[in-house]
Amino acid sequence: MRTLVEVKKGINWVGAVDWTIRDFHGYSTNKGTTYNAFLVLDDKITLFDTVKKPLKNDLLHNIYKLIEPSKIDYLVVNHVEPDHSGSVAEMVDIIKPEKIFCSPKGKQALLDHYHREDWPYEVVGTGQEVSLGKRTVQFIETRMLHWPDSMMSYIKEDALLISSDGFGQHWATSERFNDQVDSWELMAHAKKYFANILLPYSQLIKKLIADVQKMDLKIDMIAPDHGLIWRDNPLQIVSAYDEWSKQVAKQKALIIFDTMWHSTEMMAKAIADGLVENGTSIKLMDLCADHRSDIITQLLDAKAVIIGSATLNNGMLPRMADMLCYMKGLRPVGKIGAAFGSYGWSGEAVKLITKSLEEMKIKVLSQGLSLQFVPDHEGLRKCVELGREIGKAIKEDL
Ligand code: FEO
Repeated sequence: MRTLVEVKKGINWVGAVDWTIRDFHGYSTNKGTTYNAFLVLDDKITLFDTVKKPLKNDLLHNIYKLIEPSKIDYLVVNHVEPDHSGSVAEMVDIIKPEKIFCSPKGKQALLDHYHREDWPYEVVGTGQEVSLGKRTVQFIETRMLHWPDSMMSYIKEDALLISSDGFGQHWATSERFNDQVDSWELMAHAKKYFANILLPYSQLIKKLIADVQKMDLKIDMIAPDHGLIWRDNPLQIVSAYDEWSKQVAKQKALIIFDTMWHSTEMMAKAIADGLVENGTSIKLMDLCADHRSDIITQLLDAKAVIIGSATLNNGMLPRMADMLCYMKGLRPVGKIGAAFGSYGWSGEAVKLITKSLEEMKIKVLSQGLSLQFVPDHEGLRKCVELGREIGKAIKEDL
């Protein structure tokens, strides 16, 4: 397996592949991930980013294939989240860099994480340039993409954008470039990553894309800190981010449900029947079978989100509470929605889901549909009718 790759002449990937990680604070990383780091061999030898702490030896091993780590002059910390900086303290002790470049918020975040006042911080802002010898690095602050400290590094002479979390994917592979893997699968990972990590910052992404367009940077390659490097047609991922950040919706409804004895499931299927009558595309997702992060990926381009739960102990089923908490944090916009569910004797779940949808500023189309115990033919007819109403509203709203 190739573990060392020349990205551009004199610029090498020296990161680590995390084949076995399966959870990234609530996101199902069922295909693993990578922590990309890049070593530039120039007059000033520069390491861009480190890796998660347990994989520090992978980083060191890759650097040793090229040089003694103590020969590194500069360290650039584009982002302080520990998946990229977890090994920074040990690396600084080994490298003893002349300078550590970071954003203003990056310096504070490094101090808050590693409590080292004595490091040679060099705070940089958007547009600031540093010469490495033959190459010039330009820094671009990208606050909240993904943390307040985040920034990107652009190597002018190579037209290479080292984009930190931006444009990444959680996908562990032996390949390093987008043209070496299946493009459909790659874009599916990139979409899931955007939906679950960057969705709340959609407005900032729109602004970043506009700002970078104004800077008129020539971009030949985009190297994120997770997943594959965009070597072939790198602007395809910028176009995708442009569309995803606008949360452009299709004539599509996402039905999410959790069921106790299959009655809420019967309702979900009947609502789906009503929706498909006018050509609405349906995704029906059962919380027993589908992970919250795969559901959110489907939400990205859905116009409607219809949520059903049975009532348990005067509340909703616990998996649904988890789902709604996760969804609320990701702040989807421009959706319409409704709640449904079966109950035995109290029936609070539908009211609680409706309240949660309203808190998310989702346009709620009805006060929700509750049916007692097992739906009869009349109950299912009401579900189909609700599906038809939502289908009509989707068409009107698009
Ligand atoms: Fe990949 Fe925000 O860390």
